[in-house]
Amino acid sequence: MVYLNGEFIPKNQASISVMDRGFLFGDGVYEVIPVYNGKIFHINEHLKRLQNSLDSIQINNPYSDSKWLDIFQQLLGFSSGSNQSLYLQISRGADTKRKHSFESLTPTVFVESNPLTPKSKSELENGFNAITQADFRWQRCDIKSTSLLANIIYSQQAMQNQAEEVILHRDQVITEGATSNVFIVKNNTLFTHPTGPNILSGITRDLVLESALRCNINIKEASFSADELMNADEVWISSSTREVMPITQIDSQLINNGKIGKHWSQVYDHYQELKYA
Ligand code: PDD
Repeated sequence: MVYLNGEFIPKNQASISVMDRGFLFGDGVYEVIPVYNGKIFHINEHLKRLQNSLDSIQINNPYSDSKWLDIFQQLLGFSSGSNQSLYLQISRGADTKRKHSFESLTPTVFVESNPLTPKSKSELENGFNAITQADFRWQRCDIKSTSLLANIIYSQQAMQNQAEEVILHRDQVITEGATSNVFIVKNNTLFTHPTGPNILSGITRDLVLESALRCNINIKEASFSADELMNADEVWISSSTREVMPITQIDSQLINNGKIGKHWSQVYDHYQELKYA
């Protein structure tokens, strides 16, 4: 079952207009929210980021926070398995004719839930490969927009290179991954790009920083270079569906001799505690 514009219906019966601006232009925003043990993880932070995304593109939030919660809970009632990933998308809605500018329309709201199976610690301990690419995205990466062409190009490159992620750099400064935030540890300090228009402010990013603080790791929300990435003691990526993952090889070069780091292990454990707190 999925939620579409006020109704819960089977996915294969859900359809939208060809004039929907989400279809025509990618004119919409989305959120991905993990659910652990039936509990929606940091729903308020996700709804706040959703509001910011909507405000940035002048779409009125169609629902109150309590209405969103009600939709999520009803949808979760249809799904089996207590760990889920909620996907919600709001497009500007269907127009009568295709034009770039817009007038007030009724937004199209779609929500679905899929099983979430993050990798186990022992799977993660093998470490993962990444490749680097120039960040040719626009400068409103803080909007969680459904216009994802650049991210799609990168993710396909990652897949074709048997890499877990593409790590992006703008003028040699590491911004984030194609679908994640990026961290390095150097001399016991954790670095990640500051929030702003060049990255998506990841909800997991904040939780990783919080976990690191609890583990007595120094944190610095400061940018770092591609060179510093390659010479880091540890490299991690984070996202709602991948949690916090160690990267041990980048562009065929080993990081820390290909070994995962002790800081990752501590932060990973703390993050697991947060999930079920
Ligand atoms: N992606 N940066 C980008 C470009 C992302 O697409 C994502 C998440 C993140 C991490 O954000 P969060 O921690 O809030 O999940 C950072 C989601 C999972 C996706 O597009 O499916």
